[in-house]
Amino acid sequence: MPSIPAGVRGAIITGWGTALGEKVITNDDLSKVLDTSDEWIVERTGIRERRVGGTTAGLSVESGRKALAMAGLEPGDIDALVLATTTPDRTVPATSATVQNALGLRCGAFDVNAACSGFVYALVAAHGLIALGMNRVLVIGTDTLARITDWDDRNTAVLFADGSGAVVLEAQEAGTQLLAWDIDADGSAEKYLYCDIGGYMHMDGKEVFRRAVRIMVDSAQKSMKAAGVTADDIALVVPHQANVRIISAACERLGVPMERAATVLQYAGNTSSASIPLALADALNHGRVKPGDHVLLVGFGAGMTAASAVLRWGGTA
Ligand code: UT7
Repeated sequence: MPSIPAGVRGAIITGWGTALGEKVITNDDLSKVLDTSDEWIVERTGIRERRVGGTTAGLSVESGRKALAMAGLEPGDIDALVLATTTPDRTVPATSATVQNALGLRCGAFDVNAACSGFVYALVAAHGLIALGMNRVLVIGTDTLARITDWDDRNTAVLFADGSGAVVLEAQEAGTQLLAWDIDADGSAEKYLYCDIGGYMHMDGKEVFRRAVRIMVDSAQKSMKAAGVTADDIALVVPHQANVRIISAACERLGVPMERAATVLQYAGNTSSASIPLALADALNHGRVKPGDHVLLVGFGAGMTAASAVLRWGGTA
């Protein structure tokens, strides 16, 4: 992966916000209609309950509005909106157009679909826009997987949910927050996780699990090496929230203690593009990150994509 050229204009995150589906579905709720149990789901996935409901645009507007308020910005201050989603509300137009209008933004807007790695892809793209002269970019990751989940299929119904997380990225002349990044994809593995238009998610869970750990670790190691940091330097890992066993296996291979991982899957389930910004916001809201800390974002998803980024919180200046 190319390293960030010296002197390139960087950025820092100045606001964040989240939104979750309104309806809570517990494991016990699922065991009433599926051949499963709270015990099995908790032990095999770490998920205790999930939130469903809302549209991709609706949840994005909610998280985006909160992020703008926290950054102290007006809609007119934003130069671009990048929305990561794998569940757009319509095929045309891009859901980002609906969100742009509802938030009152007057700027370019586009969707990014890199499945569960989408938020990190979008964050990297936003840094590129800032390097090219933009000042403030709103980056949102949202998915409404409940709509493409077959609720009679215990293989997938226990995992997926709806949510959204947003960050405001603002240019910083001296000292960037993004030290290094990596994006990857392997389309030959698409058969292991896919959803046809109008259909439901299909997943070979075991194969996805096996590959997920490998590609997350590979991507994270590339970013850490490029950033010149080791596992000991990482104060917080923000992994894609698919399965707590995937997170702990990846942490173990990376040499980062599991206590340093941010997790929200216990109450939010797997929200795909939203899972990393939801987990980041949760960690920030709980005061788990202080200026100067190194934060590793790392995701994997259908396609099979992987993406990672090493941030130095607050920037390097
Ligand atoms: O965003 C990326 C999306 N996807 C993923 O990251 C998924 C990655 N894969 C996984 O998280 C795991 O493979 C699953 C959670 C999907 C499944 O866990 P597993 O430990 O790989 O279970 P398994 O498929 O090996 O099944 C073990 C047993 C089987 O029973 P037998 O053959 O041992 O009698 C399954 O039939 O558990 C059974 N089983 C279930 N039992 C209760 C499978 N699903 C369920 C279920 N409830 N929901």
